[in-house]
Amino acid sequence: MSATTSAATPVRALTEAEAAVELARLAAAILEADIRYHGADDPAISDADYDALKRRNAAIEARFPALRRPDSPSLRVGAAPAEGFAEVVHAVPMLSLANAFADVDVVEFDARLRRFLALGAADPPLAYTAEPKIDGISLSLRYEGGRLVQAATRGDGSRGEDVTANARTIADSPAGLKDAPALLEVRGEVYMRHADFARLNARQAAAGEKILANPRNAAAGSLRQLDPAITGSRPLAFFAWGWGELSAPLATTQTEAMARLAALGFPVNPLLVRVLGPGALVAHWAAIEAQRATLGYDIDGVVYKLDDLALQGRLGFTEASPRWARAHKFPAETAWTRLEAIAIQVGRTGALSPVGRLAPVTVGGVVVSNATLHNEDYIAGRNARGEAIRDGKDIRAGDWVQVYRAGDVIPQLADVDLSRRPARAVPYAFPALCPECGSAAVREPGDAVRRCTGGLICPAQAVERLKHFAARGAFDIEGLGAKSIEEFHAEGWLREPADIFTLQARHGAGLAAREGWGARSAAKLFAAIEGRRRIGLERLIFALGIRHVGEVAAKVLARHYGTWAAFAAAMDAAEVGEGRHWEELLTIDQVGTVLAAAVVTAFHQPAERAAIARLATELDILPAGRPGAGTSPIAGLTVVFTGTLERMTRDEAKVRAEALGARVASSVSARTDLVVAGLGAGSKARKAEELGLRVIDEAAWLALAGGG
Ligand code: IVH
Repeated sequence: MSATTSAATPVRALTEAEAAVELARLAAAILEADIRYHGADDPAISDADYDALKRRNAAIEARFPALRRPDSPSLRVGAAPAEGFAEVVHAVPMLSLANAFADVDVVEFDARLRRFLALGAADPPLAYTAEPKIDGISLSLRYEGGRLVQAATRGDGSRGEDVTANARTIADSPAGLKDAPALLEVRGEVYMRHADFARLNARQAAAGEKILANPRNAAAGSLRQLDPAITGSRPLAFFAWGWGELSAPLATTQTEAMARLAALGFPVNPLLVRVLGPGALVAHWAAIEAQRATLGYDIDGVVYKLDDLALQGRLGFTEASPRWARAHKFPAETAWTRLEAIAIQVGRTGALSPVGRLAPVTVGGVVVSNATLHNEDYIAGRNARGEAIRDGKDIRAGDWVQVYRAGDVIPQLADVDLSRRPARAVPYAFPALCPECGSAAVREPGDAVRRCTGGLICPAQAVERLKHFAARGAFDIEGLGAKSIEEFHAEGWLREPADIFTLQARHGAGLAAREGWGARSAAKLFAAIEGRRRIGLERLIFALGIRHVGEVAAKVLARHYGTWAAFAAAMDAAEVGEGRHWEELLTIDQVGTVLAAAVVTAFHQPAERAAIARLATELDILPAGRPGAGTSPIAGLTVVFTGTLERMTRDEAKVRAEALGARVASSVSARTDLVVAGLGAGSKARKAEELGLRVIDEAAWLALAGGG
């Protein structure tokens, strides 16, 4: 195979013809690695191998500039394959599913729905649908007037990639519909059958092309091809599992809605059933698991959905997933391999995380070479409470270990085989110094994790914080991926987030002249950075990377304080454990003392605060948006519920209030606008009266919130 011969040939010895072949091979290899790195798939190759491919590509292009391909990886900034696709904003977000692992989780799921809906023991069991969870990639198909007008991947849930041309090549997705609602978005999973996957890989092997790791990666990679003809040549299949935006309801139950989709011509999984109560769900789960090996395609669990669509509507969504559905996963797949070494990675908040380097092993169709080892207690064979895990067996370099993977979770170790432990294996000594900066790594009482005390002087922390800052959910700067950040940090160009916004002024010319970049990629990156100077408050708070402040907490804080000025002033003035500002933080629903202390502490570290201030001057920070604001009389108000409501549970009332744009607080303060007092409301209602706040009863609340 000529490509293999030339891969080993030094760049200076390549003929022009060999160089052209080699550039084609590198473009394909790098694209494949990018897809697997950025997409839902596992990285195929190590970072070092990836960098070597990119360097070789750049070196050949430098020698033969005329041979640079239009699809050259050097023209892709940060090499996100998605750059070739237009962005689609989902009219209805594509959320994920909360998981259940054990039967008790299913019982708890049902019990929770019953509590939310205020159902008693005498009320009949709830009806659910249960269907396989297909291990593929989700796709949203939008039909207007019965014609397929747009197809989009899930992306980050709110914005996906426009893959319309590719989706048209999937035989299972109808191009036109009869008797469909004027607007219909059908959502489902693109997957590849085992037999088709095997034939495709045989074809790839015969053509000297890359072998695909598993059917899911094959489906994901095939759908996200820049050339629809390639997608068309891949045997992709589709199962519908739901819908997005609609001009008219499909039905009143999930079961009927799915039957309607089937009647319109969408493949619906034949194992979908309607059952009553959690016992029947678990029984169907076991029945599907028994057939798993003979289905002919990969599934990784069973999805349960409340059948009644009106009840689904009352339950609504959390930030990430519908309350009315669960994915009940199958037990993880496992394999034995040798633990070659234990390495330490230093994260964004300074946590020293031990990682097991494994002799590569296939677990559930994916090659695994790293596993998380959590913390020093875990390695020693103890859990957070000091109790023995793995029968107290510790983990040592050289051990034979059992690896398991569950869904998208990072591989973990389930067990150690002491009978195969090498005689010279010694217990692992966890470092007391940060391996990146040499600062003391300390473990606070009650914390399982040892943390580097180097703060901003620790290069690992600085780099991880920059990566977090530029990543999806935060500033989401296209082209400023992990690799570019490492490169710019090593170069001394980026030390803190504010530097990103001054990069062009300081190093614009340098970047344009840099190997592997060039004027075009540099211009693209700077345009992406400029596009993010205007940023929503909640994204900014999340991007700061404060410990314990995830996307949900950031949103809650942003909605409470509204503007950056108000938020920053309150944090600057707050003191941990006392005073008005501290109390106010704790009134915010979902904010506890741990989170509150983390935010206040971050604002009181002088170096940290100065870095935040430098960042803020670079930005135009938009006030936090409140969904539904302006359309409801309670939009923008801070509401406290107290006592027992009779017509809806407190959970449901809270969800309704938030959906109408209100903030729900857990305790009454001078900043409370409205107190809804149910039966037996006690001290909170009294405090509200004392403060002269507006207190209403349940009937008045229902009138305000509509329905009930
Ligand atoms: S229902 C609001 N049903 O699993 C989300 N999802 O972990 C409702 N998936 O993004 C999803 N099979 O891509 C649903 N039968 C099924 C599914 C399914 C596979 C995927 C889907 C979703 C992910 C959630």
